[in-house]
Amino acid sequence: RFKMGSHESKRNLIIVSNRLPLSIKRVDGTYQSSISSGGLVTALSGLTKSTQFRWFGWPGIEVRDVKEREQVCKSLDEHDATPIFLDSGLANEHYNMFSNRILWPILHYQSGVIYEDGPWQAYRRVNEVFADAVADAAEPGTLIWVHDYHLMLLPELLRNRLQERNKRCAIGLFLHTPFPAGDFWRALPVKKHLIEGLLSSDLIGFHTDEYKQNFIDTCASNLGARTEIPNQMQYKNRLICAGRFIVGIDPQKFADTLEKPEVQDRIKTLEDKYKGIKVIVGVDRLDYIKGLTQKLKGFDSFLDDHPELRNKVVLIQVAVPSREDVKEYQDLETELSTLAGKINGKHATPDGTPLLYMHRSVPFNELTALYSVADACLLTSTRDGMNLVSFEYVACQDKKKGVLVLSEFAGSATFMRNGSIPFHPANMTEMSEALYAALNLGPEERQRKHKFLRDFVNTHTSAKWGQTFIEKLAQRCRHPMEPC
Ligand code: ADP
Ligand code: G6P
Repeated sequence: RFKMGSHESKRNLIIVSNRLPLSIKRVDGTYQSSISSGGLVTALSGLTKSTQFRWFGWPGIEVRDVKEREQVCKSLDEHDATPIFLDSGLANEHYNMFSNRILWPILHYQSGVIYEDGPWQAYRRVNEVFADAVADAAEPGTLIWVHDYHLMLLPELLRNRLQERNKRCAIGLFLHTPFPAGDFWRALPVKKHLIEGLLSSDLIGFHTDEYKQNFIDTCASNLGARTEIPNQMQYKNRLICAGRFIVGIDPQKFADTLEKPEVQDRIKTLEDKYKGIKVIVGVDRLDYIKGLTQKLKGFDSFLDDHPELRNKVVLIQVAVPSREDVKEYQDLETELSTLAGKINGKHATPDGTPLLYMHRSVPFNELTALYSVADACLLTSTRDGMNLVSFEYVACQDKKKGVLVLSEFAGSATFMRNGSIPFHPANMTEMSEALYAALNLGPEERQRKHKFLRDFVNTHTSAKWGQTFIEKLAQRCRHPMEPC
């Protein structure tokens, strides 16, 4: 049950996403869980302090044996999570082949549409499996909040099943990615089915006004939905609201972590190690939308442009392994490790290497310490729904007041432009100049920028994001035909 305004306090809340807060792996015959990475899990985990919910999703692994399934259910139950088991072939076609090879690129403005019918059928099937599980678990009046592009058909499938079972529930969906301009979406052969699936929601949330408006325009052009009233769509005698809900982090979690003695020790060690050296940090899932190739090339240009900074600057880049069964991600990893080697080959001296490229996941304490010691954070997304790393860096910079160097194509740039140094990620000269400006910014301007960003991060938390969405969804549940 979630704790909200008095008359809402009795409602159940179900969250549904493909990714659960814990991902399960089989190691030496036993199941082990690890915290999942990604903005979706960060945002929803930040909501758990103020709001209670049951979280349904895919555990990340096939488990056939009934006893073993019980074991996995038990470990997830401690986190109020319920696994939806899928066999590995189906999960592969749904997650890797349709969601991540077909949908993800279109949502992020990658040209060249790949489409195959098999993965599409698997996508439908998995959405059906999710619909069955959630429709069984929901009670009349439950608020059901679906997340992201893996489950675009779920609102429609779920609505049908709930009707059959005579349960009236409100269905909301939040898209954690951009929604592209109409011409990109138009290229997808199954575009209408997906939009129709989404339009069975009562409320659909986006990170920015731009994504929201792209979606509304697409509903009008693809399906003839009526969209004359702002933030409102009328389709098949139903009224659907669209809204912008600014996602965030839990800044207190970073403040608490920074106070831990072991983190303070680690910060001190890193500060000693990098005395007299400017540290630039980057933390990204290893994904082509993060512009990592551009980042390394831009850093190479920066080193070319400023030979006087040789041995006086280091870029520490954490590239968290992601979607490693998808060819494009494998190719990118090969490209990046080659590029990292070349850059160090070109610029290293016996006194040091300018680039520390880490292709692995980093524990939370270490991540926080890294954010804290960095003079600048360089984020180069070519497109990105929001980018919570930009928030996390700011949350760890109260002492140092380091500078955020932020691609204009990260969703967060919509709100953080004023407090960061923006640049175009394909323009190496611009990136190099932005980095140089960041490292040479005077204390007053750094203070001003930090204050602007810190206020934004403090006022737009994951808890506020979630509560605002849930309140609006509850209102939609009470008055489904009331104008948005
Ligand atoms: P995306 O959702 O595309 O990965 P974001 O920047 O919005 O991009 O979110 C990434 C999130 O993943 C951040 O909250 C970051 O702290 C988190 N993260 C990075 N490394 C790890 C890790 N090793 N384990 C768990 N979460 C991580
Ligand atoms: C993005 C997506 C999320 C996803 C995350 C990590 O933030 O919007 O839905 O969970 O990336 O990716 P993964 O494929 O590991 O779930």
